[in-house]
Amino acid sequence: MLINIKHLNKIYKTNSSFFKREKKFNVLNDITFSLNDNVVLSIIGESGSGKTTLAKIISALIPFDSGTVEIDNKNILSFTRQDLSNTVQMIFQNPYASFNPKLTIGNSLSQAFDHHIKYEQDIIKEKLALVGLEKNILDKYPHQFSGGQRQRIAIARALLKNPKILIADEPFASLDVISQSVIMDIFMKIKEEKKTNIIFITHDIASAMELSDKILILKDGNIVKYDINENIKKDRTDEYINELITATYLME
Ligand SMILES: Nc1ncnc2c1ncn2[C@@H]1O[C@H](COP(=O)(O)OP(=O)(O)O)[C@@H](O)[C@H]1O
Ligand SMILES: [Mg+2]
Repeated sequence: MLINIKHLNKIYKTNSSFFKREKKFNVLNDITFSLNDNVVLSIIGESGSGKTTLAKIISALIPFDSGTVEIDNKNILSFTRQDLSNTVQMIFQNPYASFNPKLTIGNSLSQAFDHHIKYEQDIIKEKLALVGLEKNILDKYPHQFSGGQRQRIAIARALLKNPKILIADEPFASLDVISQSVIMDIFMKIKEEKKTNIIFITHDIASAMELSDKILILKDGNIVKYDINENIKKDRTDEYINELITATYLME
């Protein structure tokens, strides 16, 4: 099994001071779900529902308070840093923050490898081709690219080590409509290649329906529903799902 999460809880604590007692805030409550290989998952929910927190836990970027998280049948707590970067890669909403402005794109991409490997340049070229870019970008600096191009480079970098899982956290959020559709096509291509499992995080139920096979819906840190797309679409009884569908169409 690709992902197996049981009774996961995550609490954020607010800072305490002499006057204020520390407050605890449950961001994720008793999250339990599992996911097989080659099933694209979308995680959707309104802002603040816990999507990014869940993604960061699956990427081992932040700790959790209780429960178990297994990735590729291994407890996430037993992974080394290196195992992890070979297994899960995450790309973020803001492509402007993803690259060191002082490094050329070529240097940023080379840093993804733990040590120099023989076919490094070939691998970089292959991943750039996958996102529709050419080798001539390697000598340029991040500021020379648009947000959409940077997001493509971020995807190429995330794929360099052929991770089992690519988590994309609202990858369209800061992009124009044309860049969004280019990036969507790239995810479709990655999906077809089946080398990398995609977890796609969005507040937009329409793009979730387009890309994924299964949808997990979060609200206030709880799983509202976890099912295949067809069943989510058919569910007219759930108020929250209806709200998400309505909000999506209002934004367009
Ligand atoms: N580092 C943090 N410390 C305290 N609260 C946080 C922190 N990160 C996120 N939160 C809170 O946790 C909740 C869930 O956040 P997040 O996972 O970012 O949701 P989403 O990605 O669905 O918008 C929000 O209420 C947010 O304000
Ligand atoms: Mg988020």
